Amino acid sequence: MGRHAAPVSTSPEPADDPIASARALTKVYGAGATAVHALRGVDVDLGRGRLTAIMGPSGSGKSTLMHCMAGLDTPTSGTVEVDGEIISSMSQRQLTNLRRTRIGFVFQAYNLVPTLTAAENITLPLDIARTQVDRDRFDTVINTLGLGDRLTHRPTELSGGQQQRVACARALVAKPSIVFADEPTGNLDSKAAGEVLGFLRRSVDDLGQSVVMVTHDPRSASYAHRVIFLADGSLVGELHDPAEADILEALAALGEAREQDAP
Ligand SMILES: Nc1ncnc2c1ncn2[C@@H]1O[C@H](COP(=O)(O)OP(=O)(O)OP(=O)(O)O)[C@@H](O)[C@H]1O
Ligand SMILES: [Mg+2]
Repeated sequence: MGRHAAPVSTSPEPADDPIASARALTKVYGAGATAVHALRGVDVDLGRGRLTAIMGPSGSGKSTLMHCMAGLDTPTSGTVEVDGEIISSMSQRQLTNLRRTRIGFVFQAYNLVPTLTAAENITLPLDIARTQVDRDRFDTVINTLGLGDRLTHRPTELSGGQQQRVACARALVAKPSIVFADEPTGNLDSKAAGEVLGFLRRSVDDLGQSVVMVTHDPRSASYAHRVIFLADGSLVGELHDPAEADILEALAALGEAREQDAP
């Protein structure tokens, strides 16, 4: 057994056609004595049409992994491929274009424009890019996220969960190859979190969307098809279709492994 002897299956994802992959991915912040090794050679395939959750202790590299795979940050070494394209060697201009057209983002803090209605917020990225809104797609996304009766409301007139569903719709409406969500339920109570995750899972099951989310919350992670665990910049295990209890057990084992590692 490895040093992180968690009760976690390490069998690979049965995905011969991943939507995104990383190979030998490393990220070092800073240099010399103060260098931080945020990612230490991560190999991972993220399944197409799947909801994948990334978990692990604070500082384990979850956001760094997501940012490198979403073209928001450049790796120190290794390769990242998204929907058949190697993005780790793209120029900033190419990355900007990739993020605009192929990648959807959902943030913990919703990031809606307060003066715009829900509908206007959802189409804002397309409007900025001067891209025609596909009305069928818009309607499908709205129905999938249960937002039909909220479209004329402004963010202050919506609950946190509804605001985050609007943010999800904004990420989904342009039919991105993949959606990255960093702690999408971090600001929500457990009921609202469950609703957002239920709708996000529907976008995967009903629309074939590929979604990757970072979360600290075992209940949120239990909505995922697959949960991968990071510790100290390395992938240390994964679970498939886990129940909340399985995730809690795996996290506890990771915590114990870390304590044994401590000097
Ligand atoms: N821009 C940066 N400059 C220097 N160090 C950084 C930078 N971004 C992240 N780090 C460091 O890299 C490591 C991984 O950070 P990261 O944000 O990926 O962790 P995380 O798993 O997302 O943590 P959290 O759960 O707290 O969000 C940490 O030690 C962090 O301090
Ligand atoms: Mg983070």
